[in-house]
Amino acid sequence: MAVSGGGSAAGSGGRFLLHLLHFCVLLAGLCRGNSVERKIYIPLNKTAPCVRLLNATHQIGCQSSINGNTGVIHVVEKEEDLKWVLSDGPNPPYMVLLEGVLFTRSLMEKLKGRNNRIAGLAVSLAKPRPTPGYSPSVQCPNDGFGIYSDSYGPEYAHCKDVAWNILGDGLAYEDFSFPIFLLEDENETRVIKQCYQDHNLVQNGSLPTFPLCAMQLFSHMHAVLSTVTCMRRSYIQSTFSINPEIICDPLSDYNVWSLLRPINTSESMASADRVVVAATRLDSRSFFWNVAPGAESAVASFVTQLAAAEALQKVPDVATLPRNVMFVFFQGETFDYIGSSRMVYDMERGKFPVQLDNIDSFVELGQVALRNSLELWMHTDPMSQKNASVRNQVEALLDTVEKSSTGIPTLVLQRPSQSQPLPPSSLQRFLRARNISGVVLTDHSAAFHNHYFESVYDTAENINVSYPKGQSPEEDLNEVTETAKALADVATLLGRTLYQLAGGTNFSDSIQANPQTVTRLLYGFLVRSNNSWFQSFMRHDLRSFLGDGPLQHYIAVSSPTNTTYVVQYALANLTGTVVDLTREQCQDPSKAPSENKDIYEYSWVQGPLDINSTERLPQCVRSTVRLARALSPAFELKQWGSKEYSTWTESRWKDISARIFLIASKELEFITLMVGLGILIFSLVVTYCINAKADVLFMAPREPGSVSY
Ligand SMILES: *[C@@H]1O[C@H](CO)[C@@H](O)[C@H](O)[C@H]1NC(C)=O
Ligand SMILES: *[C@@H]1O[C@H](CO)[C@@H](O)[C@H](O)[C@H]1NC(C)=O
Ligand SMILES: *[C@@H]1O[C@H](CO)[C@@H](O)[C@H](O)[C@H]1NC(C)=O
Ligand SMILES: *[C@@H]1O[C@H](CO)[C@@H](O)[C@H](O)[C@H]1NC(C)=O
Ligand SMILES: *[C@@H]1O[C@H](CO)[C@@H](O)[C@H](O)[C@H]1NC(C)=O
Ligand SMILES: *[C@@H]1O[C@H](CO)[C@@H](O)[C@H](O)[C@H]1NC(C)=O
Ligand SMILES: *[C@@H]1O[C@H](CO)[C@@H](O)[C@H](O)[C@H]1NC(C)=O
Ligand SMILES: *[C@@H]1O[C@H](CO)[C@@H](O)[C@H](O)[C@H]1NC(C)=O
Ligand SMILES: *[C@@H]1O[C@H](CO)[C@@H](O)[C@H](O)[C@H]1NC(C)=O
Ligand SMILES: *[C@@H]1O[C@H](CO)[C@@H](O)[C@H](O)[C@H]1NC(C)=O
Ligand SMILES: *[C@@H]1O[C@H](CO)[C@@H](O)[C@H](O)[C@H]1NC(C)=O
Ligand SMILES: *[C@@H]1O[C@H](CO)[C@@H](O)[C@H](O)[C@H]1NC(C)=O
Repeated sequence: MAVSGGGSAAGSGGRFLLHLLHFCVLLAGLCRGNSVERKIYIPLNKTAPCVRLLNATHQIGCQSSINGNTGVIHVVEKEEDLKWVLSDGPNPPYMVLLEGVLFTRSLMEKLKGRNNRIAGLAVSLAKPRPTPGYSPSVQCPNDGFGIYSDSYGPEYAHCKDVAWNILGDGLAYEDFSFPIFLLEDENETRVIKQCYQDHNLVQNGSLPTFPLCAMQLFSHMHAVLSTVTCMRRSYIQSTFSINPEIICDPLSDYNVWSLLRPINTSESMASADRVVVAATRLDSRSFFWNVAPGAESAVASFVTQLAAAEALQKVPDVATLPRNVMFVFFQGETFDYIGSSRMVYDMERGKFPVQLDNIDSFVELGQVALRNSLELWMHTDPMSQKNASVRNQVEALLDTVEKSSTGIPTLVLQRPSQSQPLPPSSLQRFLRARNISGVVLTDHSAAFHNHYFESVYDTAENINVSYPKGQSPEEDLNEVTETAKALADVATLLGRTLYQLAGGTNFSDSIQANPQTVTRLLYGFLVRSNNSWFQSFMRHDLRSFLGDGPLQHYIAVSSPTNTTYVVQYALANLTGTVVDLTREQCQDPSKAPSENKDIYEYSWVQGPLDINSTERLPQCVRSTVRLARALSPAFELKQWGSKEYSTWTESRWKDISARIFLIASKELEFITLMVGLGILIFSLVVTYCINAKADVLFMAPREPGSVSY
């Protein structure tokens, strides 16, 4: 501080400065600290909101008013508790803290349209998870966007033949006019319940008294009605304004794909070349935003395909096989087949190196982790098999799969009745364009075995992945679980099938997927992505995409998402090779004479840990793994009302947050306001009077006082 000037002048000047300083500190404290707010509000830190999504015709999800919804908390642990909220309680609107098991369609129907009594919902996770099952998805996922319709196979359309997701109650496709949040942390739920017990409980028959414990939820959504409405508005804005106000974004990400044998991706494949496609999906969803564990609905299948890709790459004669093999991991399949419809669209327009006519056969992995017995089911499409030549190809394909399974004692291949349609699958989008021969492998013959399809409970527990207590993360990572062994068998089958479909003969029986790979992948995707192996194969700048929890597989709008990157680099690690390039050469392979970017992808990854230190040894990995845009063609074509392509968009929002605090009664607030107003009016009157009579009042001589300041 440069205050002390010295001399006598500093005496009064210094004191003045000191006072000024005090005043400033006080002012700064008041403005910056907002200490009042901090004492009263308790923010909830681990919540997930339900947000608004839109398609061509509808809006689904939830929202609050622009200033957030506030209500007195009421804990609902059994259905009878709702009576208080809906009729008896004297202080509406209420913020309902709902036990997870009660979060069902029948209960939510009762709350719908009761906005005068319900301000919003906070749902806790049910522990243990609800039995016998729970799925907020619909019974017929992606209805209308697959191959069956009222004009093509009407007997199969709208899941008339098989209701695939029989437990689905459609809650996640409803529109709610109040906010709904998931409480992800039990400790926070406990804090809220404590606040409720301390302030809101009926005590000895008398009504609870103010102040009461309340909750405020902010999740105001900008977009309304439908994708057509919001995209048109955004589009007009972006045409005429330099600073357009976008209110919704298409759900989009990237598909991950690779080829067993590298090709020049700058040009189209020769029309005589044949490719066997192995496909699966990457994404899932739940009622809540960015909560999509998808263990059985996505993870188990793509992990199995990753392991099959690794096993197949090791075969000695891959370079000489008559046909190539393409591995694809589709993003956004949950939302009316975004990824596969885009790939088909690109293939038809020659914007993808592989064309539709190059496809020889198609093998897709559906849900495969919940095999109750040894059975694995081969689903095929009855419509395309009306053509005898297609039928023969499909028969040959099924024979190949069955033949591949003979050396695997833990697998028995089964065919559902020939008149049964395909389950929801990416293959359906390819069949819309060409009658290719394809099969979908699943653990279920008809309805899903998955009782938690697209719910928050489709976690590691759902597919029986668990670890002995007291192990270190590194030990868990390498612990081979029963689930991993079972999935490795499916991966072995897939690897052998693809090998034979590609025309291989000599090494089929030596193909063996590694259970260690499967178990490490399962651990990384379902338990903890920030582990030593995942870190080693990721690029340095992407290391923050790995978190201490499981990865979530919601497609989202800012992409690529965590899952996309991790699958891309896992596949590169499993099928690629380490090449001896410097960092500069790896990032720009044109500087290395022996390398070619048309044929390979290069990535400079963090590398494994040095044995003696905590340093990593970065390396350059060469692979054929690439990303391909997964944005619905509806947005390329600006057909926002499309019935052919997915039209899902996500609304934008400004603020999503939740907090609890104590509120005073409306009466008390009113009285406070009135008293304040009274004082104001009184002081105005007094001032006026003093002013009017100033000459009289201030005539008297002042008392000489000893006041110094
Ligand atoms: C949009 O979503 C709603 C709710 O799931 C559904 O009823 C409707 O058929 C969908 N519209 C289109 C065009 O797919
Ligand atoms: C909850 O609190 C307990 C004890 O305070 C602590 O051991 C536990 O780790 C906390 N759980 C979470 C999920 O934070
Ligand atoms: C959330 O975090 C803030 C700041 O760390 C803390 O004061 C608050 O108590 C937390 N909320 C809950 C419900 O624990
Ligand atoms: C409720 O009643 C019990 C016994 O009648 C009494 O001990 C307790 O203090 C009462 N509680 C309140 C909050 O009045
Ligand atoms: C790949 O194809 C492009 C376009 O046809 C061509 O210019 C390039 O030389 C090819 N690269 C290789 C390695 O063949
Ligand atoms: C596939 O085959 C069926 C039956 O032969 C036929 O009706 C349909 O038009 C074909 N689809 C395509 C895309 O060629
Ligand atoms: C059956 O499909 C093949 C192509 O797979 C096509 O050439 C043939 O015309 C189709 N036959 C009928 C009767 O549609
Ligand atoms: C789950 O795994 C454990 C051990 O890994 C096994 O004993 C148990 O039978 C499995 N349960 C199911 C339902 O598969
Ligand atoms: C595979 O088997 C065929 C026929 O038995 C033989 O001609 C060919 O050389 C074998 N290929 C390899 C790589 O061993
Ligand atoms: C995904 O990546 C983002 C961005 O790096 C990170 O903040 C987030 O924690 C990751 N999510 C998970 C579930 O790990
Ligand atoms: C894959 O990861 C392992 C473990 O970090 C590493 O040893 C290996 O070199 C990697 N392989 C490739 C091709 O990147
Ligand atoms: C690790 O340490 C041992 C002995 O301390 C040494 O011989 C070895 O070269 C070291 N390895 C590396 C990779 O630094």
